[in-house]
Amino acid sequence: MTIGIFDSGVGGLTVFKSIAENFPEMDLFYLGDTARVPYGNKSPSTVKRYSEECASFLIANFNVDALVIACNTASSYAIDFLREKFGIPVVGVVAPGSYQAVKTSINKKIGIIGTNGTVKSRSYYNAIKRINGDIDVYQKACPLFVPLVEEGRIHHEITDMVIKEYVGILHSKGIDTLILGCTHYPLLKKRIKSLFPSLNIVDSAEAILKDIENLNIPFKENGKREIFVTDDACSFEKFAQQILGETKISEVNIEK
Ligand code: SIN
Repeated sequence: MTIGIFDSGVGGLTVFKSIAENFPEMDLFYLGDTARVPYGNKSPSTVKRYSEECASFLIANFNVDALVIACNTASSYAIDFLREKFGIPVVGVVAPGSYQAVKTSINKKIGIIGTNGTVKSRSYYNAIKRINGDIDVYQKACPLFVPLVEEGRIHHEITDMVIKEYVGILHSKGIDTLILGCTHYPLLKKRIKSLFPSLNIVDSAEAILKDIENLNIPFKENGKREIFVTDDACSFEKFAQQILGETKISEVNIEK
């Protein structure tokens, strides 16, 4: 089984890593659209166009059996469009993350943090309400998190202040479960947990695994792994090494 995974940039490597560790036999091809990151502040039509170009690259070059959209913003705006356009299974992060949060929450109060785009799309909000309309759902856009992570400021007092500001707003609503609705946020998970220890944290990078298992497509042994970016492979490589260890990255142009 060959899977194509795409994200706006480096954050999706958290999803790539969790799939690679859990499905060692799958061929995995990852594309990070670093030339155009972040997607979180772009309009829905731009996010769809970028997502289509990422998907076309993976399908045309590697004949992938299924696509995984690691980016929450792209999952929010482009999943139905890509399913219709390419006719292959497309797994996004919103549905698995929502199911996991509903299963986890005891007091039925769930918080979502994400990019402006993901929050505006209300994708998680609507998915949770469809599963159980009685759940109270609160959202908070956290636009400062992506640059802090991209700048490597994970263990920094500025980041702690920003976490307290953003997550504190949801915490004050009485939530017991928090969805990390952006690929970059799992890298802040330990900091969030240490500042808000009572919260159950749902990481879409882990929640998505069940949906991939359910694809049920036959696989070969010893999967290949290849990683591509649309810009600045050197900086990406440094970041990728923090997440994956020694990693080779190639640069490609996917714009039509
Ligand atoms: C972004 O591209 O703005 C962050 C990725 C995401 O939405 O998960």
